Amino acid sequence: MISIAIMGYGTVGAGVAALLEDNKSRVTRAAGTPVDLKKILDLREFPGDRFSSLITHRFEDLLEDPGIRVVCECMGGKTYAYEYTKKLLAAGRSVVTSNKDLVAAHGAELLKLAKQSGVRYLFEASVGGGIPLLGPMSRDLGANRFREVYGILNGTTNYILTSMAESSAEFDVCLREAQDLGYAERNPANDVEGRDTANKISILASLAFGKHVYPESVETEGILGVSHEDILLAESIGCRVKLIGRALLDEEERVYAFVAPHFVSSVNRLAGVNGVFNGVILRADAVGDVMFYGRGAGRMPTASAVAGDVIEAVRTPSSSLPPLWEDGAEISDGSEHVSRWFVRSSVPVDASYFEAFDMISASAFMTGPMKNHDFHRRMDLFRKKYPVVNAFRVLD
Ligand code: HSE
Repeated sequence: MISIAIMGYGTVGAGVAALLEDNKSRVTRAAGTPVDLKKILDLREFPGDRFSSLITHRFEDLLEDPGIRVVCECMGGKTYAYEYTKKLLAAGRSVVTSNKDLVAAHGAELLKLAKQSGVRYLFEASVGGGIPLLGPMSRDLGANRFREVYGILNGTTNYILTSMAESSAEFDVCLREAQDLGYAERNPANDVEGRDTANKISILASLAFGKHVYPESVETEGILGVSHEDILLAESIGCRVKLIGRALLDEEERVYAFVAPHFVSSVNRLAGVNGVFNGVILRADAVGDVMFYGRGAGRMPTASAVAGDVIEAVRTPSSSLPPLWEDGAEISDGSEHVSRWFVRSSVPVDASYFEAFDMISASAFMTGPMKNHDFHRRMDLFRKKYPVVNAFRVLD
């Protein structure tokens, strides 16, 4: 039998506790031994809860209990979660987490620390919720060189954009609806401003390319500027508006990573990823394109991924492999990256500033494929004559 603990008895932590208990025989079979939840760290009391007897308020109760071999960090944030994770890894405990903020900010350091201590640091739940993604990338696709990874990585914004398309309502109304349904948080800034997606694409890029890509290197634009009119224009040419996180290697093997609303053409499978679902596409040299799809958020999908990592840490408590990634990614400014662009003004325009273009309405058009630096140079000239409401990349 192996004893484990959970730090943070919120939505995810409570889901992990319930899943391990409710599916005990299945977990025992997968782990090869019973997994015993011994302690739960949380500042609050939970009278009447089925696990209330396991609650402790002292981190030292976990750290100083040599019987606890694996700890699930479900606290979130980068202060206590960071401090406790470092102490646990240094003390020879494996840590598994759903905390994308922490992994995106400190992944290279924590992976190195885990390696030095001969334990595991695992975070399948940090990207794509319940979708198995990081495991297949590092194991089953381990012989591939990745060229690109991109996708819809945030359920809240995808719910809002889907609902704007289906109900003809504007952003504020759809955000309130998402909050009422419990999808969006009361303070939705992290999601709608794109930072949650930036953290997730930074983790995917780090894993795909083997060097830590910090969120500060990810150009980030959220969905606050998307209006119903953009969505109608997108639909008129067979596109959907989606918040896309994307990371790719340029010709000099530098990483270009960005998060922005895109027009996604209906030929791209991400166009059909709706509501709170996530979809991720990997482009690799041997396998070609692979798509992952499923529930990217929510208590039990996320708990499924955390519990999967607990099983992995129990089965393989230390690994002889090098860390999944190290520091030192070279970052590209993306100036040579080629895209088509959707541009919308508030007045009728002459789009001949852009050599190749298709008009969508009197005030909106789509450019031909252009390098970023060329697009921005022409936009600077265009803006001198016309007010620009929005400019979004197109994903074919
Ligand atoms: N706020 C996140 C989302 C939660 O909406 O996708 C899962 O990371």
